[in-house]
Amino acid sequence: MDWGMQNRISHIIRPKTGRTVMLAVDHGYFLGPTSRLENAGATIEPLLEYADALMPARGVLRTGVDPATSTPIVLRVSGGNSIVGEDLSREGITTSVEDALRLNVAAVAMSIYVGSQYEHQTLMNLGNLVNECERYGMPVVAVTAVGKDMVRDTRYLGLCCRIAAELGARIVKTYYTDDFHKVVEGCPVPIVVAGGKQMDTEMDVFELVHGAISEGAVGVDMGRNIWQNDHPVAMIQAVRSVVHEDFTPKEAMDLYNSEKGK
Ligand code: 5RP
Repeated sequence: MDWGMQNRISHIIRPKTGRTVMLAVDHGYFLGPTSRLENAGATIEPLLEYADALMPARGVLRTGVDPATSTPIVLRVSGGNSIVGEDLSREGITTSVEDALRLNVAAVAMSIYVGSQYEHQTLMNLGNLVNECERYGMPVVAVTAVGKDMVRDTRYLGLCCRIAAELGARIVKTYYTDDFHKVVEGCPVPIVVAGGKQMDTEMDVFELVHGAISEGAVGVDMGRNIWQNDHPVAMIQAVRSVVHEDFTPKEAMDLYNSEKGK
C-alpha cells in the first residue's frame, strides 16, 4: 500500500491495538439538529480527546472543531437527501476531494444504499470517489446505509460490505447483527460498526461493542449511544475500554459507573 494511504489509515486505526473508536457526529447532514447535537461544537469538545477519529460533515468541522486538534478527521462527503425528502437513498457527493485535502482530513466517508431505488447511483458514487481519492492516497470509508424497510441481517449486510470493499473502500462501516463474524469473513477490508439509535441501557451498548470486536470488527464509528447518553465522557471511555483493552461488558459498566460520578 502507498505510504500516504497507509499513514492516513494508521491515524484512524491505532497501530498499537489495530482498533479504533471513531466518534460519528455527521447526523445533521440529513437529520438536521439532532437531539444533543444542536450545538455540535459543545457536544464534541469534551469527547474529542477520547476519539481516535472524528466523523463530521464539512459544516460542523469548520464551525465546531478546533483546527488545532490532533484528532484525525473522517469527513462525510455524501448527502443531498433529508428525512423529509423523497428518498433517503438519493445521495450524491457533496464535498469535493480538493476540499477534503484542503481540510487536511485522514479519510472521506460516504453512504451506499444497496437494494434501494438509488442503489446504482450510490455505488457509482463510491467507485468514482475511490478513483479520485486513490490518486491522493486518501482512504474512502463506505457506510452501508439501510433504508427504513430493510432488514439488517447477516446476508444483507454481508452483501453490502463485500460490494463496498470490491469497489475500493479501504474501511467499511456497517451494523452489528447475528453471526456478525460471517459479515467480517466476507469483507477483505477492516469493518467498524455504528451504534444506531440510543439503546435502552448502557449494558446493551457495551454488549454490542464487545460482540462486534469479538467477531472481528476493528472498532466502532458510534454517535448517539455516546453523545445522547447523560454521561458522554464516561460512555466514550467505557466504549474505549472494550475496543482497546478487551474489557468485558461488565468491566466497561463498572468503568462507566465510576467515571460518571467524576
Ligand atoms: C449515518 C451515519 C452515522 O454516522 C452513523 O449512523 C453512526 O452513528 P450512530 O452510532 O448514531 O448510528 O453514518 O448514515
